[in-house]
Amino acid sequence: MSHRTLLVEERDDRVVVTLNRPEARNAIDAAMVDELHTLCGELERRPRLLLLTGAGGVFAAGADIRELLERGREEALAGINSRLFDRIARLPMPTVAAVDGYALGGGAELAYACDIRLASESAVFGNPEPGLGILAAAGACWRLAELAGRSVAKQVLLGGRRLDAAAAHGSGLVAEVVPADRLLERAHALLDRMASSSPVALRLTKLVLDARGPHPVADDLAQAVLFEGQDKAERMRAFLDRRSS
Ligand code: COA
Repeated sequence: MSHRTLLVEERDDRVVVTLNRPEARNAIDAAMVDELHTLCGELERRPRLLLLTGAGGVFAAGADIRELLERGREEALAGINSRLFDRIARLPMPTVAAVDGYALGGGAELAYACDIRLASESAVFGNPEPGLGILAAAGACWRLAELAGRSVAKQVLLGGRRLDAAAAHGSGLVAEVVPADRLLERAHALLDRMASSSPVALRLTKLVLDARGPHPVADDLAQAVLFEGQDKAERMRAFLDRRSS
């Protein structure tokens, strides 16, 4: 399918998505949100690894400020970005963000929602939302603390600190810092390594790693056991046979 704000390359074991609004530093607008939701739908139906990156030497300079200005309470409650980033975080297979240049505001939150981040030497992470009179409401307030620790999260979210690549690496936020011209190659090497693992083992590991309470992991595990059982096969076949005879 064709996209207006994304470049999408489909491979057997992975999908490579490039945020592509370079004229607006890949700011995340409503069209990009819609297109990323469509992509999530595809990855939920046919799970594959995801590599997310940005065009033009920028990851993403945040949510689109032109649109943010027009949004009110109802739009905030609709969780336009937070629900998308949550959906991305819950994709069945691992996700990798390859961050070159700025990952600010919602752009940083999108990177935080991925499972693993790689950075180029020019990567900069920051959450300048309070400077715009809002808060980082799409995951930074809790995901960044989980990824880099509360102290660093407070420096970024309250102190306006921008993390350059070295600081992001030092805090554990990014796995590796590489020259920009080798960023995608390194990201693909990481995906290659993951692709050599059992896909179902990766999926269940991610599910369990990210489990916050018993649900929905317990539900899914229980269902997985039942789906392989005799009872389910016999009872469902009996129902279908009864209707066709
Ligand atoms: N939303 C909407 N438009 C944005 C944007 C955003 N988050 N970030 C950048 N743009 C637009 C600019 O308005 C500009 O548009 P114009 O060419 O029509 O004037 C274009 O992208 C280029 O931006 P510019 O600031 O000239 O680029 P730069 O390379 O000098 O600086 C940034 C890059 C990322 C440092 C700077 O654009 C910036 O600070 N952006 C906002 C970051 C932010 O506060 N994000 C949090 C949002 S919640």
